[in-house]
Amino acid sequence: MARKKKVKLPKTIPTHIAIIMDGNGRWARSRALPRNAGHRAGVENLRPVLEACVEFGIRYLTVYAFSTENWERPADEVQGLMNILEDVIDREITELHENGVKLRHLGHLERLRPALQEKVLKAIDLTKDNTRISLNIAWNYGGRDELVRAIRKLIEDGVPAEDITEALVGDYLYTAGCPDPDMIIRTAGDQRVSNFLLWQGAYAELYVTPTYWPDFGREDLLDALHQYASRERRFGRVPGPVTSS
Ligand code: IPE
Ligand code: IPE
Ligand code: MG
Repeated sequence: MARKKKVKLPKTIPTHIAIIMDGNGRWARSRALPRNAGHRAGVENLRPVLEACVEFGIRYLTVYAFSTENWERPADEVQGLMNILEDVIDREITELHENGVKLRHLGHLERLRPALQEKVLKAIDLTKDNTRISLNIAWNYGGRDELVRAIRKLIEDGVPAEDITEALVGDYLYTAGCPDPDMIIRTAGDQRVSNFLLWQGAYAELYVTPTYWPDFGREDLLDALHQYASRERRFGRVPGPVTSS
């Protein structure tokens, strides 16, 4: 393995970063390859980015890999993406587990093939006690769908209206127990959130890079971390120490 260049880390490292892994199709097109070749390249890129997150001290990495709207793509592309998910679980799960990665799925499994649902659930169960880093995979995920399901469940559970708080809503989301993302990175240049973490991302710092996801590497992540450290997160307050006037 090539020796990694020693890097200077910024003082403030986000606890949780979330990535909209966009640009696989454009990456493939720029090489005259089919779109699914771009998705394969994208998946291969996940491992080095995950390793870089561990190296930099990030505790939670959430990746947006398939949205509730991505079902509208051509059937062969959707099929290809499902096959890729299955291959990745088969190929990587043992190593992920050995490396202390806790896997979590954000989204719902209903539309997936039963055998694939089974694999996802087994992978989550296998890694549930790991603590080195949490890898949340948003697959068949949509922020609106997540909120609709949460509302339905609150009603089904008979929760009285006055008991509904922000904390309780959070407990009904796929991310229950996971801190909100500090930063959302979107690769491939588009400046939108595309139905990703609508609730959890309320105060996330947004970082958009033109780099296509399959080309996004350790140095790009480091650039994002430096940018993050230079931001002032105000959460609606005024800058500086808390004082009353
Ligand atoms: C992101 O890459 C992966 C998925 C949405 C599944 P795209 O496939 O959206 O790539 P572009 O945006 O067409 O380049
Ligand atoms: C967002 O990318 C979803 C994923 C990266 C999985 P899209 O390519 O689906 O988003 P739009 O269509 O550009 O908004
Ligand atoms: Mg896209």
